[in-house]
Amino acid sequence: MNNKIIIINGPNLNLLGEREQSQYGSITFEKLKEICLVKSKELELSVEFTQSNVEGEIVNFIQEARKKFDGIIINAAAFTHTSVAIRDALAIYKKPIIELHISNIYKREEFRQKSLISDIVTGGIFGLGSYGYILAIISMQKLLRNEN
Ligand code: DQA
Repeated sequence: MNNKIIIINGPNLNLLGEREQSQYGSITFEKLKEICLVKSKELELSVEFTQSNVEGEIVNFIQEARKKFDGIIINAAAFTHTSVAIRDALAIYKKPIIELHISNIYKREEFRQKSLISDIVTGGIFGLGSYGYILAIISMQKLLRNEN
């Protein structure tokens, strides 16, 4: 049976393509979703691609993932830098987690240089643009197949 993964996107990522293209490129959220679905299928992963602007909804996604998904890829967006609730929810999840950022948060404003989740995730990808999503899917497949 295929492994099941969830890709969780935080606030304002639904506006990719429209927001700060110098940081996030010109790809739209819909196109990004399509590319992720195609890559996951190719790698025989079942994927759910989600987005929310609401912190509590993201906590719910993570809690529900405990029973439903074998791995989490998360771009928590601005909540990366602020949300103890998302950190706590991720800490309860006992399977692989990949933290993802389109931009290089470590060479941006000081408030973005702190991630509240980096020390509890399996690994992270940042600064490689939207291609980071593809790398995260490939990495998750390797983690789930113990090929890492
Ligand atoms: C982001 C970086 C965050 O600092 C920012 O708030 C985002 C997107 C990224 O993908 O580069 O919304 O997570």
